[in-house]
Amino acid sequence: MKYLKKGSLLILFLVPFSLMIYYGKETFYIESEMTAAHSYDYHFVLITEEVGNDYWRLIEKGAKEAAAKHNSYLEYIGPKVTDTEERLATLDRMIAAGVDGIITKGMNDDTFQELIQKAANRNIPVATVDTDNAQSGRAFYVGTNNYQAGYLAGKRLIEETEGPQKVGVIIGLSSAQNQVERLNGFRDSINESNRIELIDVAESHITELGAAQATYQLLKVHPDITAFFGTSALDGIGIVQGIKEMEPVQRPYVIAFDILPETLEEMEKGHIDATVAQYPEEMGIRAVNLMYQLKQHQHVSPIYFTDTGIVDSSDIHNGELIAPIEAGEAQ
Ligand code: BGC
Repeated sequence: MKYLKKGSLLILFLVPFSLMIYYGKETFYIESEMTAAHSYDYHFVLITEEVGNDYWRLIEKGAKEAAAKHNSYLEYIGPKVTDTEERLATLDRMIAAGVDGIITKGMNDDTFQELIQKAANRNIPVATVDTDNAQSGRAFYVGTNNYQAGYLAGKRLIEETEGPQKVGVIIGLSSAQNQVERLNGFRDSINESNRIELIDVAESHITELGAAQATYQLLKVHPDITAFFGTSALDGIGIVQGIKEMEPVQRPYVIAFDILPETLEEMEKGHIDATVAQYPEEMGIRAVNLMYQLKQHQHVSPIYFTDTGIVDSSDIHNGELIAPIEAGEAQ
């Protein structure tokens, strides 16, 4: 009985003591993390479309570079695979966390607009990058003029082909505003010629495999397709796979989007005829610089278009672009 009493006393002492040590350590850990974070002037967040996507990785690279120059911390966060719901939930979480500024792909969902208002009420500016939603109340947009970029693709198709053409479009996501704008620009452009017809549009869900399958399906249904236009970064290489799979008698003309290394490689091999260049790294740099200026109470214009233009194999040597696109070519 005596021993039991001693034992319970020991337990009574040990339990709260270990809890104190554990939580004490946790508290200390959190504090030391906060101290590290406090050495930055601002904490900005970049909400990406897909964390591992090479195109978004370039936006991240530029954004991190610029943040470092402004003694700011840039957090890169988003879904593994494109997911609007998850991006909206992340945006909401970042507002609740009280970060200093948010840069995100623009979404045309009503909730997006509501969240931007919520952020504004808490004095957190939200900017769009890559894809805009001008009606949402966002602070500013940095990225390609997407309508113009699609228009340029159509113009190149007119210039480079002869006789009647039947075009299949592989669109990244038909719900994404930038993809819709590219398609609209392309459509308006080819409508200026009476020999080019857009016969079908299929979605790739912004994956190479999705683009290959969509191309395969389109060629199966319309074996008379003579040209393809891919509107997002991995569509071009997917189109090449789909065409290889179907082996049409004559290879369709292919115009892609973006200048990721795989696309340039396929252009050098002669499988892609041209591509629309975007400058994601520049988008990241600009977006953070403008966010910083905003925090410094400087005036920032609502729209900053980064360059775009058409690249073909004559602009590439050993997988690298040799001729930079002329600034403002598409503006
Ligand atoms: C688009 C992005 C998209 C990416 C997908 C780019 O062309 O601008 O919005 O996330 O392609 O790979």
